[in-house]
Amino acid sequence: MGSSLPSYTIRMLVLGLESSCDDCSAAVVEETASGPLLRSLVRESQDAIHGPFGGVVPELAAREHLLQVRAVMGGALAQAGVTPPEIDRIAVTRGPGLVGSLLATFSASKAVAWRHGIPWVGVHHLLGHLNAARFASPDLPFPALVLLVSGGHTHLYLAKDWTSLQLLQKTRDDAAGEAFDKTARMLNLGYPGGPLVDACAQMAPRAADPFTPPKFRDGKASWSFSGLKTGVKLRVERNPRLALAGATDPEVLGLCRSLQEAISAWLLKPIPALAQAHGALSLVISGGVACNSRLRAEATALAAREGLILALPEPRLCTDNGAMIAAAGALLPPDGDPWSQNADADLKLA
Ligand code: KG4
Ligand code: ZN
Repeated sequence: MGSSLPSYTIRMLVLGLESSCDDCSAAVVEETASGPLLRSLVRESQDAIHGPFGGVVPELAAREHLLQVRAVMGGALAQAGVTPPEIDRIAVTRGPGLVGSLLATFSASKAVAWRHGIPWVGVHHLLGHLNAARFASPDLPFPALVLLVSGGHTHLYLAKDWTSLQLLQKTRDDAAGEAFDKTARMLNLGYPGGPLVDACAQMAPRAADPFTPPKFRDGKASWSFSGLKTGVKLRVERNPRLALAGATDPEVLGLCRSLQEAISAWLLKPIPALAQAHGALSLVISGGVACNSRLRAEATALAAREGLILALPEPRLCTDNGAMIAAAGALLPPDGDPWSQNADADLKLA
């Protein structure tokens, strides 16, 4: 425990807002002496809008966020039973992300902060994903290896605390989430692909032929997932039936299972050696792909084998959400005048 205060003592109520891609989300988080408590979480999905295009259309996402942000923010406050003047801090994603999307919650947060004189802080999206782990594991021992894996990121970091991330390795091409989403598209399973491929893989009576891991001539530690996309494409070209057979066909299920097994194994492969090299005591896995059933099971087994404490946020906190931004924002010093602040689509980690 961080202090002798009883856990019900309110230290700070934080309103967190996130709209970096296609989820518009707000949450109220109560930062207590023993960690963050989730008081409310609202998320509006845009899957029905982007689904027909097979991916996020930035202009449509931005327009939808503008329509959603007021109700999402109001919903989070109402669910938590608080009014804006009771909020001690507003935390919002500053970047990286789609700039049109970012600006919806960014601008709304500035207006509310100014109207009620609430201290305001802009948060790096990836610090948010790390802090999603704080809800279930507030006393996590550091240093930690942090695997952030989503539709836009596949990055492994070393963290010495909840507010620092030092890059160890990343994908050289596609993010792992893209491999899931594009496979689902080639198999006509629907959108977004990750949860659908996961469901198919779990139903598979047996796996298809395994995918071969890529070899890097330069020997640099990294990942590559674009070959998986080509691998699935070749299998579908050889067997066009797969594109239309649907989510009950054993061969489609088997292909999903092989893909999921490959992604999970490749993601976790570097962990033991890096944990040793950096003296890591724990492993955090967050981002949308951290919802994957196989990755969660394999990571649990690996952590037990390697003696690492595993922090796996519950699935609704792994995908983009306002709660993780509030949890990170609670630990950062507030920025100055919000009106002078800007969103940054390409924001770098400090
Ligand atoms: O973190 P997130 O909500 O947004 C980004 O910042 O990208 O992650 C979305 C990604 C998508 O690629 C989605 O297909 C993937 O996470 N995803 C999954 C699962 N649930 C979501 N991938 C594999 N298995 C899942 N169960
Ligand atoms: Zn994300």
